[in-house]
Amino acid sequence: MRRPVIAGNWKMFKTIPETRAFFSSFLPLVSAVSHCEIVVAPPFTALAAASASVSGARVAISAQDVYWEKEGAFTGEVSIPMLIDVGCTYTIIGHSERRQFFGETDESVNQKVRAALAGQLQPIVCVGETLAERDAGKAADVVRRQVRQGLGRLTESDLSPIIVAYEPVWAIGTGRTATPETAAEMHGEIRRTIGEIWGSKAASEMRILYGGSVKPNNIQELMRREDIDGALVGGASLDPASFAAIVKYL
Ligand code: PGA
Repeated sequence: MRRPVIAGNWKMFKTIPETRAFFSSFLPLVSAVSHCEIVVAPPFTALAAASASVSGARVAISAQDVYWEKEGAFTGEVSIPMLIDVGCTYTIIGHSERRQFFGETDESVNQKVRAALAGQLQPIVCVGETLAERDAGKAADVVRRQVRQGLGRLTESDLSPIIVAYEPVWAIGTGRTATPETAAEMHGEIRRTIGEIWGSKAASEMRILYGGSVKPNNIQELMRREDIDGALVGGASLDPASFAAIVKYL
């Protein structure tokens, strides 16, 4: 049984007062939820305020990125111990916006994943093809490569804290959700790839989230698919009522 996860990725939105206001509206709406794990990923500057706001609630806090060194002369970067210090239990790694705009590669994703595991931070590893790659018939190849390389050099026992998020780049922030069929097909590819490398037990236990224009009106259909274990939600996670509606997809 894979426990579903609904995660919100705030990207570069919300100040500290906005973060506090979000949680004071959101937490009462989800206080009775026990069917899924809830994760929220605010920007670095709001992580401490977010952790304080969710204290005692069943909501985990995630960073949106991390650097693999513990400390040092790496201007602008934030380390795993620093994230743990402000109450994070998760970090997103390899989001397509990091890959597209900030030079993230499969190799840097792999270094971050390995460091996060060593530092007891749970990675949410993002994969997904661009529209050009899909149109060229390469979607499955690209995602399989991202999984193989991003999770490279890990053993089967390393995999259990990891969550994979399939986020087709053409569906992010565009309002163009992948159909449940397309999403499920790609989730199947990812699960098969994990099975080929680490065996069927690892594949059947891996939680794979879908991301890309998830909204209150499409979550239920996505969650009905056997291989879709939850969602990574961008835009619709910024509003307490819409994110709560997604969390309560049942
Ligand atoms: P979106 O973003 O829901 O706004 O499409 C998803 C994501 O980038 O994680």
